[in-house]
Amino acid sequence: MPKDITLEEAKKRVEELRKEIEKHNYLYFVLNAPEISDQEFDALMRELTELEEKFPQLITPYSPTQRVGEQPSKEFAQISHPVPLLSLSNAFDFGDLKEWHERIKRHVDTPMDYVVELKIDGLSVALTYENGIFVTGATRGDGYTGEDITANLRTIKTLPLRLKDSLPKLVVRGEAYMPKAAFNRLNEERQKKGLSLFANPRNAAAGSLRQLDPKITASRPLGLFVYEVLTVEGTEFESHWQALSFLQEQGFPVNPYKKLCRSVEEVYSECTAWEERRWELDYDIDGLVVKVNNINTQRILGHTSKSPRWAIAYKFQSEQAVTRVKDIIIRVGRTGVLTPTAILEPVRLAGTTVSKATLHNEDIIREKDVKIGDKVIVQKAGEIIPEVVSVIKEERKGTEKTFFFPSQCPECGSRVVRLPGEAAVRCTGGLVCPAQRRESLIHFASRDAMNIEGLGPKIIEQILVKGLIEDAADLYYLRREDLINLERMGEKSADNLINAIQKSKNNPFSKLLFGLGIRYVGSRAAKILAERFKTMDRLIEADMDELMEINEIGEKIAQSVVEFFKEEHNLKVIDKLKRAGVNMSEDTAQEDLSLPLVGKKFVLTGKLSTMTRTEAKEKIESLGGEVLSSVSRKVDYLVLGKDPGSKYDKAVSLGITILEEEQFLKLFEKNKK
Ligand code: IVH
Repeated sequence: MPKDITLEEAKKRVEELRKEIEKHNYLYFVLNAPEISDQEFDALMRELTELEEKFPQLITPYSPTQRVGEQPSKEFAQISHPVPLLSLSNAFDFGDLKEWHERIKRHVDTPMDYVVELKIDGLSVALTYENGIFVTGATRGDGYTGEDITANLRTIKTLPLRLKDSLPKLVVRGEAYMPKAAFNRLNEERQKKGLSLFANPRNAAAGSLRQLDPKITASRPLGLFVYEVLTVEGTEFESHWQALSFLQEQGFPVNPYKKLCRSVEEVYSECTAWEERRWELDYDIDGLVVKVNNINTQRILGHTSKSPRWAIAYKFQSEQAVTRVKDIIIRVGRTGVLTPTAILEPVRLAGTTVSKATLHNEDIIREKDVKIGDKVIVQKAGEIIPEVVSVIKEERKGTEKTFFFPSQCPECGSRVVRLPGEAAVRCTGGLVCPAQRRESLIHFASRDAMNIEGLGPKIIEQILVKGLIEDAADLYYLRREDLINLERMGEKSADNLINAIQKSKNNPFSKLLFGLGIRYVGSRAAKILAERFKTMDRLIEADMDELMEINEIGEKIAQSVVEFFKEEHNLKVIDKLKRAGVNMSEDTAQEDLSLPLVGKKFVLTGKLSTMTRTEAKEKIESLGGEVLSSVSRKVDYLVLGKDPGSKYDKAVSLGITILEEEQFLKLFEKNKK
C-alpha cells in the first residue's frame, strides 16, 4: 500500500479488493474451484485489512473482513419476519404423495411440473438483503418472529455479504447445516476436552449458530443452502426453477441436486433414487421437498396457517431413535459367523417397534465403544435389521458393563476363530453346532431355496430338538406320525407339511443348489452353475479350471464349490437326497424353443402386489423368457411394481414396453394357454 494514498484512492482500491475477495470466496467455498492460491487470497485480505485500519470510515458491514468482527452479545434480539416462515406437511410414502398430487390436480387442472430438492437437515434461516447488502439474518423461531443471529451467520463463508445486483430488497430462506465430517471432528475434540457431545449434525449446527460469541460460531465450519425467495423487490419470477437460477446467479449457494420433474412419476423415481443415494452426501438430509414449479399455480393453491399447499416434504423411511441397550447377545448364523446383537428397550423406528439391533462384529463394538446399559442411537438405513449408530456417552452413569467377545461358540461350545483379514469370528463346530444346523435348515426351506411352505424356524427347531432329523435330506423321510405330535401341529397341518416337502422334490436343480448353502453360492450363482453343468453328478466332478471358465464365477466361488464337494458328510447328504427322489438335474425347459416367451428379455422393478419377485421370475422363465437385472436396449419388457426404482425412468427413455402388474399377469395367462 503506498504510504501517501488518499482517501479517494483508498475507497476505490477497497471496493476492488472486496469484489475480488468475494469472487474468490465464492469460487473456493461454493463452487469448490479456486483460481488463486491461499497465499494470494491471504495477500488480498491483508491489503484490505490494512486499508480499513488506516481509513476506518471505509469499513462496512458487508466487508469480507467483518465476517468475525462483532463482540459477544448478552442475548439475541428478536426479529419479525416480513412473511411467515411456514413449515411443510409430510408425505411418508408414495401413497401420500399421490394423494397430495391428486388434491392439487383437483384445484388446478393443468400439466403439473414439480421441483424436487433435497431436504437439508439443519437450521432454517431467513436472510435479508437491502440494496444487495446482507443486513440481517434470523432463525425461524415460531415462524413469525425469530432470533437475530446476523453476526453468527456472517461467519459462514458461503453466505454472500453482497449480491451481484443491488436489488432494493430481497429476503431469502435457506438451511444452515454442519457437514458430517466437521460434526465428527467437533465431537472428537469435545470428547477429548470432556465436554458434552452433540447428538447429531443438526443439533451441532443449531448449537453453533445460537452462540452469543460469533468467534465460537466462526470456529465451527457450517454450510448453507438457500432454497426460497420470501420477498423480492425489483424483479419477479414465473417459476420456482427460475427463482433458484436467480439465487445462484446472485451468488447464493444453491444445492446442485435439484430436479425439474414433468410428472409425479418422475418425482417418485427421484425419491427412490435418493433413499439410497443419501448416504453418499457429506451432509444429512431427512427427505426431499417437492414444490409446484409454477409461481402462479403456487398462488392459486395458497397455504394453510401452517404450511403451503404447493409444497410437501417426502420423509425418508430410515430414521434414528434413541434407546437403551439391555443386553448384548451372540447369534450364530448358517455359516457359523458370530454376530453380536444388541437387545434394546423397544422403540418406535420408521413405523415399526424394534427391540434388536445388529452390532456387526467385534471391531465395531470396540470402535463404537458400546456397553451394556448404554443409551444409544439406532437407525434403519435400508437394511431390515437396524444398527447401532453411536453411544450417547454423556448419559453414562458408570454402571454400564463392557461386553467381552466369547472365545467359544455360545451354542455348541466349539472353539471360535478369526481368519486373518476377516472381521468375522466363526464357530468351528460345523454342522455339529445346533445353531448352524438350525440356520442351514431354515435356509434350505426358505422361499428362494426349496420353498417348503409351512416349514418355518419354530417347526424346524422342534423337529431338531426331538431328534427327528439331522440334516436337510432327513426332511424327505419324515412321516405324518412324526409331525402330528409337535406343538401346534394338527393332522391337517402335518399332512400339508408332508405334501409341501414332497412337492419340493420337483424343484429346479438350481433351487436345491442354492438351498445347500455352499458358501458364496447365492441364488444367481446357483442358477449359473445349474445351467452350465445340468446335473449334480457333473457339478460334483467339476474342477477349478472348469468352474472358473464360466463367466461370473470367480475364484472364491469356484474354490468354495470344490471344497464343499470334497467333504464326505456333504456327499452323504446329497446321496440321501437323491435316494429320496429329489430332482438333481436342471430342467431344460428354457431350451425348449416352442415356449412362447423364448428370446424375450424382462426386467422387474418395484414391489408387486400379487407375487414376489422370485415368483414373477419363475413365471417368466417357465415360459422361456429371461429376467435381466438392468435395463438396456436389448430388454423387451419392464414389469412395473409399486415404488419403482430408476430402472423405470431408463426404460421410459429407451422406449421399452412397460407392463403394469395386471398386464403382466394377462400376458402370462395368455401365453400359458
Ligand atoms: S421449503 C414454504 N426447501 O424443512 C416452504 N424447506 O420440515 C418452506 N428444509 O422448516 C420450506 N430443506 O427448514 C424447503 N429444500 C428445502 C428444504 C427445506 C430443508 C427445511 C426447512 C423447513 C423444514 C420443513
